[in-house]
Formats: sequence, structure tokens, C-alpha cells
Amino acid sequence: MVKILLFVFLCALIFIVVSSQEKVATHRDVCGELINVDKAVVIDGPFHENCILEFRTQEDRILAFSVVDGDVKEASELFTIHDGISRASPILLAGNQKILELSRKDLPSALYSTQSTASVRFTKTPSSKLLLKIQKAVSCSLNVGPETQCGRVVDEISCYCANFANKNHADHSMLCIDNNMTLVSFENRTEEEFVQRTWSTQIPFWTSLTDTRRDGTWVWEGTMTILDTGDYTHWFPGRPSSASDNEEDCMLYGGNTFLAYWGDVNCTTTLANAICEAHP
Ligand SMILES: *[C@@H]1O[C@H](CO)[C@@H](O)[C@H](O)[C@H]1NC(C)=O
Ligand SMILES: *[C@@H]1O[C@H](CO)[C@@H](O)[C@H](O)[C@H]1NC(C)=O
Ligand SMILES: *[C@@H]1O[C@H](CO)[C@@H](O)[C@H](O)[C@H]1NC(C)=O
Repeated sequence: MVKILLFVFLCALIFIVVSSQEKVATHRDVCGELINVDKAVVIDGPFHENCILEFRTQEDRILAFSVVDGDVKEASELFTIHDGISRASPILLAGNQKILELSRKDLPSALYSTQSTASVRFTKTPSSKLLLKIQKAVSCSLNVGPETQCGRVVDEISCYCANFANKNHADHSMLCIDNNMTLVSFENRTEEEFVQRTWSTQIPFWTSLTDTRRDGTWVWEGTMTILDTGDYTHWFPGRPSSASDNEEDCMLYGGNTFLAYWGDVNCTTTLANAICEAHP
């Protein structure tokens, strides 16, 4: 009984912690505050002329500003967003933001800082309700080499890059790490579909899924999660190979053999392209 109560208590606690990550600051003057962005915050004011809000997130991350149910560019006649929190911080302009050709066109429009702090300065008092959304994001203007394409392919806070060099699994894994990314891990069908739609499945791409540590135990090395029964998989019929001590320890998708499905192949002798990802 005590165990059950403890479990319920822990669940409730986890729920409170998780739900407080996206909080709406209401009925209190938020102007002048320095707000820490752990994951995402939505602020509904009240805002007024000369109101200044400062935001800070993890040091190696950036901030993405958007307006819930609206367009951040249109709303920018009410406020300016600055890259940093000093008086001299430059204004972030929609026209100066890096346009990533490959990014999803249907994502909410966002303005990105180039560093971990930013500020919002109101020039007018909004006449109607305004919900400002600020999210922790990864930078996606990565220069990861000439044979690379990057974009906000899945959502507006993550970044995905395709690397079109033919290399083995370990070499591509290192290329991702050199750029503070990891080989891609598909958490669900949606994520996989967005990536496959962007770069097609005509040629094979490495992912982070391997069973090199223990045959038969597949691990998404990018997120260090073990592929459990019930988790999303998309294996080619008959794969993965179940022979013990087999040499097919790394997963790739695409190409003529496996098409959009997952195939297990030799990590060292197989050469393929790769997808890297970075999440906030
Ligand atoms: C990777 O992250 C480190 C620490 O944040 C940073 O110093 C370095 O410049 C980053 N490298 C690249 C290629 O972005
Ligand atoms: C699918 O994975 C993406 C990327 O990791 C994540 O942002 C999204 O919330 C997931 N969607 C579902 C329905 O779980
Ligand atoms: C896979 O690569 C290893 C190391 O190069 C090699 O020893 C092995 O024979 C290869 N396995 C297959 C099935 O090609």
C-alpha cells in the first residue's frame, strides 16, 4: 500500500515538474523580469509600452520567439526582439534571419537569437491579447561541410543535416559529433517521415541504431535508448538478421535493397550517406 501511494505521489510530482516546463505567467507584471527558459514558456502579459523582458537559456542553446495564434513578424510592430540582454544588443530582424531552404514551410514562423540570451522591448501597448512563446532551440546555421544540407526538418527547435559523403558508420558518427550533433534516432513515424520526405530514400543513410555492444540488443546511440518491444520500428521484412554473432550491426535505410525500411548491414564495410540531428 505504501509503495502504491509512493508511486502515485511520484507520478504526481513528475506531472507537476513536466507541466511546469511550459508555463503561462498570468495576472502579474512580468515586465522587467529575467525569465529562464528551461524548455518553453508562454507569456500572456500584461504587456505595456516600455516593458522589457529578458530571457536566458542553456549556454550552448539559442532562443526561438514565436506568437501563439499569430505571426511574429506582424506582431513586431508592438515590440522588438534583441539578440542579447545588453542595451546595445542588436534587433533581430525577420529579413536577417538565416533562411534554411530545407526547413518545413508549415512551421510556425519564429525569430531566432544567435546566443543564449535575448530581450523583448515593447514599443506599444498591445490592444488585444498577445501570447508570446519562447523556446529553447538549437542553432541550425551549422556549416558542416560542402557535402551537407541542414534544415528545421521536423520542428522549429531542432536541426537535421544530411551528409552526402560515402563513409562507414563510425566515420559518419564522428562527423556528426564534430558538429555537436549525433546520428539520427527515429523516435516515431512522424519524425522519420519528415526526414525521408526531405532527403528521399533513393540512397542509403546511416542512423544511430546499432547492436554492436550486444547482438540482438538494438540501441539508438544518438539518444542512448534501448529499442524496446513496443517502440517504433520500421524494419525491412526479415530484418534484423537474428543469427548470433552476425556482422550486421548498424542500421541504415534507403537505397535499392531496403527502400524506406530499415536494414541491418556491416558497420565498417558498408559505405553510405548519413543524417545528423541536434535537439534542444
Ligand atoms: C560545439 O560545442 C562547443 C561547446 O558548446 C563549442 O565550443 C563548439 O564551438 C561547438 N562546435 C561546433 C562545430 O559548433
Ligand atoms: C516524434 O518525435 C519528434 C522528434 O523527436 C518529437 O518532437 C515529437 O513530439 C514526437 N511525436 C510524437 C507523436 O510522439
Ligand atoms: C563485416 O566487417 C568485418 C570487419 O571488416 C569483417 O570482418 C566481416 O567479415 C564483415 N562481415 C560481413 C558479413 O561482410
